[in-house]
Amino acid sequence: MVGNWKMNPHSPEQALEIFTGIKKSASKYKNITTVLCPPAVFLGLLYKKTNTQVVLGAQGGEVEDTGAHTGLVSLEQYKKIGAEYVILGHSEERARGLSSKSVSEQVFVALKKGLVPIVCVGEDARDAKGQYVFKIINQLKESLAGIPKAKISKVVVAYEPLWAIGSGAKRSATVSEIEEVTIIIRRTLADMYSMKRVPQNTILYGGSVSDTALPAELVSLGAVQGFLVGRASLSEHTFAPLLSAVSKKQ
Ligand code: PGA
Repeated sequence: MVGNWKMNPHSPEQALEIFTGIKKSASKYKNITTVLCPPAVFLGLLYKKTNTQVVLGAQGGEVEDTGAHTGLVSLEQYKKIGAEYVILGHSEERARGLSSKSVSEQVFVALKKGLVPIVCVGEDARDAKGQYVFKIINQLKESLAGIPKAKISKVVVAYEPLWAIGSGAKRSATVSEIEEVTIIIRRTLADMYSMKRVPQNTILYGGSVSDTALPAELVSLGAVQGFLVGRASLSEHTFAPLLSAVSKKQ
């Protein structure tokens, strides 16, 4: 279960409070790894509080280890401060100009550093003719270009349909809409790497996950193995019910 805190919360005190609250609940579920991804400035503080169940992830990251890049943080630095995962290619970063080519370079370096990349893909809108399917396939292929077959099983793919993300979302995606895309993702990976068996990569769903019914059903179907949660990961009160629902259905 991944919590994407985005550019929240206001202060280190609040970050610590949210982290501690979620850790209390998350530590109970031995079958779930909870990955909280705060802004870079809070990683050092929160690292001291991690345990085997609750670990840290970064949001994005530069491929060069160090250099004259004012305002940026490298994947190497994230790894060194204790992050184990990194969210790459989030739609909010893509909207600011991040290309799939750059995402693939980040994925490559993340894997080399020993970070687990959580690669986000998703269409901005659905259309009756099914063009969105090709968008997802192309985005996934481009975002993973150059990743060697030996490393591909380590990549986590997060399906995040843009139309279902954030406070402006019109509706959440349905179980069958999400299931269809998870099949497309696995088939695309199998095609890319000429695999005979269905790839067992961890697939997450993200997009206004707050209610427990959808996550519980998706996990029990085996369609996804977890969730990338935005707003609902900023409070123990909204995140703990999701953990509980997912844990029961595994
Ligand atoms: P949301 O964000 O859960 O607040 O919709 C999800 C995401 O953007 O990863």
